[in-house]
Amino acid sequence: MRISIKLGLIILVIMLIIEFLLFFILYQGLLDSRIKEETQELVSRGNNHRDVLEKKFDDVTLHHVALMESKAKTKVVVMGSDKKILINSSNIDSKMKEILNKSITPSHHGFLIQNDWKEKAYFASVSPIVINGKHVALVYMFLDTKFIQKMNDHLVDEFIKISLISLIILIITVSFLSKTITRPLIKMKEATKKLSEGYHKVSLDIDRKDELGELAFQINSLSDDLNRLQRDRKEFLANISHELRTPLTYITGYTNILRRPNIEEEEKVKYLTIINEESKNLTKLIEDLFELAKMDQTRFVIQKEKVAISHLIKKVLNTIKPAFFSKNISLIFSSDGDYILDIDEKRISQVLLNLLDNAMKFSLENTTVNINLIGHKEFIQIQIKDEGEGIPENDLPLIWDRLYRVEKSRSREKGGSGLGLAIVKEIVEQHDGKITVSSQVGKGTTISVFLKRG
Ligand SMILES: Nc1ncnc2c1ncn2[C@@H]1O[C@H](COP(=O)(O)OP(=O)(O)OP(=O)(O)O)[C@@H](O)[C@H]1O
Ligand SMILES: [Mg+2]
Repeated sequence: MRISIKLGLIILVIMLIIEFLLFFILYQGLLDSRIKEETQELVSRGNNHRDVLEKKFDDVTLHHVALMESKAKTKVVVMGSDKKILINSSNIDSKMKEILNKSITPSHHGFLIQNDWKEKAYFASVSPIVINGKHVALVYMFLDTKFIQKMNDHLVDEFIKISLISLIILIITVSFLSKTITRPLIKMKEATKKLSEGYHKVSLDIDRKDELGELAFQINSLSDDLNRLQRDRKEFLANISHELRTPLTYITGYTNILRRPNIEEEEKVKYLTIINEESKNLTKLIEDLFELAKMDQTRFVIQKEKVAISHLIKKVLNTIKPAFFSKNISLIFSSDGDYILDIDEKRISQVLLNLLDNAMKFSLENTTVNINLIGHKEFIQIQIKDEGEGIPENDLPLIWDRLYRVEKSRSREKGGSGLGLAIVKEIVEQHDGKITVSSQVGKGTTISVFLKRG
């Protein structure tokens, strides 16, 4: 069942219940109070006549009473104790006779002897006349019940009218709901179906400021994301195949040269070295890709333990020192204290090695690389500052992308494939940390890793 119809039905049921309750309260209240008012009036009119007749019980007074009632909506009948009608203000019909024939236990107070308006034609009251302790007659008062029946019919008519109006409101509500809720939902359902079928470019033109608008906006941005992912994946695959093909072209080329006869020993060594270098690059590239693939599938587990970070930095610096010395680059470490962090030691070493490797690769000889460990309130900051070639501003946001290198050809010479920083960022984020970069071309680059303090 459509949601608009469901909602419409719920609204209808609630409306009907409220209407019914209101009607019932109103109906009961109005009818009851009117009946009470009229019957009390009837009894007291009867009692008045009785009082007058008790004072003076003669024909003149009896006629006077009948005359008074002939102008009113009520009717009076005075019946003697011998059941003889002494006076009546109007004709006595069969329904009145029925009441007059009822046997009465006389009491001095007047009382109602019939108040069933649904079944009977009259409300009726009786007031006994007692003179000198002797019961001489009964004053019967009659009031037609038609007016209550009319009132009842009128109320029921009103109820039916209101119910019809509710039904019309319901139809309008359902069509309004269908327009505002069901239709956008159907559009969104179709859009998500398209997305799941692999058609990634959907755009929903639902301009609303409510939850449905938000949902449509989310679907649109999901479509954009999927689109971008698909494009990125294509680009990534194209880049990978290029990255794999280049070293393989070198390797095949040089092995072909080596197969030639009478090749000199010196040349042989040169080519073999190139082949060896390219094979190493290829192995590193494949290892890095494998690492990133593991991270994507979240199969990459971080094993945190308590680590003294300055100790870890020193250890990494010792490993990398020889390479820096051979390029005559000074490595200076300073720290404002030691901090125990909850981190994966191996992974953070990998981060530092990658960053220091970049700092070394992209620095000229006789420069300095500073490593500063700075403690903040919630984080510690590891700053790696080089005096190298720097990164152009436009490239800064892109260096974290897989296979991205500022100068493809030149950094290839340096043996990089552009995966290092992608891995670094992934590891830092897995530690709930943050990595930032600032750089000036020709002046140097500063990369800061922020890690949570344990
Ligand atoms: N300290 C730096 N100075 C100047 N440029 C840098 C520096 N660090 C990174 N870059 C630029 O960012 C690019 C991406 O760095 P990344 O570490 O991801 O790749 P790579 O070093 O080229 O290769 P890999 O790290 O996979 O061996 C580099 O190619 C380089 O152009
Ligand atoms: Mg690198």
